[in-house]
Amino acid sequence: MRNELNAMIQNIQDPEYKKAFEAEMQSFFILFNRYLAETAKNEKIDWEKIQPPTPEQVVPYAELPEKTDPSLLDKLAVLKLNGGLGTTMGCVGPKSIIEVREGMTFLDLSVRQIEHLNSQHNVNVPFILMNSFNTDEDTAVIIQKYANHRIELMTFNQSRYPRVNRETLLPTPKSALEDKGAWYPPGHGDLFDAIMNSGLVDKLLAAGKEYLFVSNVDNLGAVVDTRILEHMHQSGAEFLMEVTDKTKADVKGGTLINYEGNVRLLEIAQVPSDHVEDFKSVRKFKIFNTNNLWVNLRAIKRIMENDGMDLEIIVNHKQSDKGEAVIQLETAVGAAIKHFKGAHGINVPRSRFLPVKSCSDLLLIKSDLYELSGGALVMNPDRMFLSTPVIKLGDAFKKVAAFQKRFKTIPSLLELDHLTISGDVSFGRGTVLRGTVIIVANDGSKIELPDGTTLENKLVTGQLSL
Ligand code: UTP
Repeated sequence: MRNELNAMIQNIQDPEYKKAFEAEMQSFFILFNRYLAETAKNEKIDWEKIQPPTPEQVVPYAELPEKTDPSLLDKLAVLKLNGGLGTTMGCVGPKSIIEVREGMTFLDLSVRQIEHLNSQHNVNVPFILMNSFNTDEDTAVIIQKYANHRIELMTFNQSRYPRVNRETLLPTPKSALEDKGAWYPPGHGDLFDAIMNSGLVDKLLAAGKEYLFVSNVDNLGAVVDTRILEHMHQSGAEFLMEVTDKTKADVKGGTLINYEGNVRLLEIAQVPSDHVEDFKSVRKFKIFNTNNLWVNLRAIKRIMENDGMDLEIIVNHKQSDKGEAVIQLETAVGAAIKHFKGAHGINVPRSRFLPVKSCSDLLLIKSDLYELSGGALVMNPDRMFLSTPVIKLGDAFKKVAAFQKRFKTIPSLLELDHLTISGDVSFGRGTVLRGTVIIVANDGSKIELPDGTTLENKLVTGQLSL
């Protein structure tokens, strides 16, 4: 591995690029060696030692201070994790440039939220995007339009690591210039390396910033909350993780645990296979990580300059475009919780977690279930229940492009409880769905709902007959 990395470094002409690439390969090499050492030791988390978090380790949102000092916002910067492609939804570009509402993308709405915050409190909270080599170009095009806005917008790129052949354990790219498919962004845990290498931590500290609020770019519920910020200030905690109550549908997210007296993040990838069902159960693990994190900038600097941030390695098995079996070594940002002083969870309302992981989620947030307020999505007050409908869209709706073609306009979901769609189904303008609606177009058949259709507690199969 070392020789192959060195060969790639030696072939670079531009001295500046060579230096940056060398530093990146050094970080990768450390991660790779940790992976080899851990695989050899085969050390698994000791299931018997896992305890639910103590009350001090997860504070209910209702207990946070109600009286807040808006001048704390002067010490805040907001960062969105924007390195992912949203492959699950078949995105060709960054997920953040999907149009969500009124012609605005995730990125546009996030910018709106910050502009709203800044004008509301007369502050200047900077907005930072952590991009990757996969998302940087498309993002740059979108954010051009903010050049003349009153918002301080900064971007930096996360690392680019080589994919590794699963059999030979050698890097798949032979040169630093090899095409994108040979490389990968190593998960959002890369934030700490990337933001330090970019020089941004020093820049923010010099500008008087102390706190960084981090969240997924597709989570439009992750608005700046002054009560959490106040709590961070008063408690002196260096790291806060927003968690929320788990429902049966939330089987994947990591959870906070008490491990030998310390608060730790437990991800499904770390769970021994005979305990996966335990991990998914709502009974034992009641909360999960929303990936809304509040981090002290000075603490990031201290940890990175001393011990470094060794985060649990997630091995992602993939197939390259050439059909080669490869692995990607990744890390998750929330795993850093164990490195920070006074770190703990805050159990927040579900409304702070509105992720878009699939087109079913996209349908929800595009619909009349939500209204826009200062760039944030708030539940429509006309919705009679607090819960959102359960939506299962079939494979024909899986990719964003297909999804967009199948709805002339987004149906009204205000009174919907449950929607299941399977097969070749498309919607006309102004459709209304209420109660439980199931639409199944069998193989070879097609269902096209005419404009103005209302379906209430209805099962539609085969050919449409209303
Ligand atoms: P996820 O990887 O959990 O979900 O990223 P995703 O974006 O839905 O991706 P797919 O569909 O599984 O491919 C959560 C957040 O972290 C960012 C993503 O952009 C998203 O905002 N992320 C992920 C990074 O910034 N860098 C990474 O290397 C990976």
